[in-house]
Amino acid sequence: MSDKTETTDQPLPDPKKRRQTILSGMQPTGALHIGNLEGALKNWVALQDQYWMYCCIVDLHALTADWKNPKVLKDRIFQVAVDFVAAGLDPEKCAIFIQSEVPEHTELHLLFSMLITVPTLDRLPTYMEKKEHLNSYGFLGYPVLQAADICLYNADKVPVGKDQEKHIWLAADIAGRFNNTYRKVFNLPEALLTKIPLILGSDNRKMSKSYNNHIPIDATEKQTEKILKSYYTDPEKIRQGDPGHPEKCPVYLLHLVYSEDPAGDIAPDCKSGKLGCVDCKMKLAGRMNETLRPIRDRRSELEKHPDEVWDILAVGRDRARQRAANVMNKVRSAMKIDYRGKKK
Ligand code: TRP
Repeated sequence: MSDKTETTDQPLPDPKKRRQTILSGMQPTGALHIGNLEGALKNWVALQDQYWMYCCIVDLHALTADWKNPKVLKDRIFQVAVDFVAAGLDPEKCAIFIQSEVPEHTELHLLFSMLITVPTLDRLPTYMEKKEHLNSYGFLGYPVLQAADICLYNADKVPVGKDQEKHIWLAADIAGRFNNTYRKVFNLPEALLTKIPLILGSDNRKMSKSYNNHIPIDATEKQTEKILKSYYTDPEKIRQGDPGHPEKCPVYLLHLVYSEDPAGDIAPDCKSGKLGCVDCKMKLAGRMNETLRPIRDRRSELEKHPDEVWDILAVGRDRARQRAANVMNKVRSAMKIDYRGKKK
């Protein structure tokens, strides 16, 4: 397994060499929050100029958790697609598509499932963490499906957070096994770990919809203020006048993302006690609303034209299918199972 990773601020691939491919995936959890925006989307937007980009909305992965109630998926997919485009992903530059619309994902998943053992999957931390309450065959195979997502486009790089690194190693491992067992078809994909700002939720834990501690991208300006008012702050700073510790405060972490000069404007006055938490939060709300305004405006425009959004997904699907069909032909021919429809 390769443990090579790089960050986007390292030099880009030699422009004379072939343009590399990126596959990125996100579960359709519904309208996204600023953690998704700052942690993933903004980075994808920056990458779309330098790579062939495939942005996959992984509805089949979402089924591992939502299998009892799959009817929620359609609207969630739509909302995620709206956020992608509003955040600046350009359908001309990257294929934005729904995983289940490219059936080759499931075919490659099955072929890959022969190349990995159950104990290997059983030991992955992402599985171990949840297996108490989620131990289906489908959930055990989650990272194998992810490997298929990546390899189906012969991706070179996969932009992910640190928590997903093992899944990318696994994808490279399976790709290598395939190449050794049959014939070389796949690049060995690598994680593109990016320096992302730490975004914490209102309760000081990782921002997540499932913790309900998040700030939705599509929150109104008033709602944004309200959520920020509810934010956890340095517990040692109870009243204005008490000296604060910005480095321990999730509100300060957000100032680092949204304010121009937090180290000069916010930190000293927080430490000295001059700046109270409520004022600090209101300053942040102002900055945040200003930064998010263009994205929110684009978002509400797109929501008024749902057909345009579904069209973008259809164009993305067609582009993804082309590439996927091509790679799958190579896969079947390497495995010598390209007998379908042949007489001899
Ligand atoms: N497992 C990823 C997550 O939880 C989602 C995902 C599915 C993905 N397929 C992918 C990410 C392929 C990158 C590439 O965030």
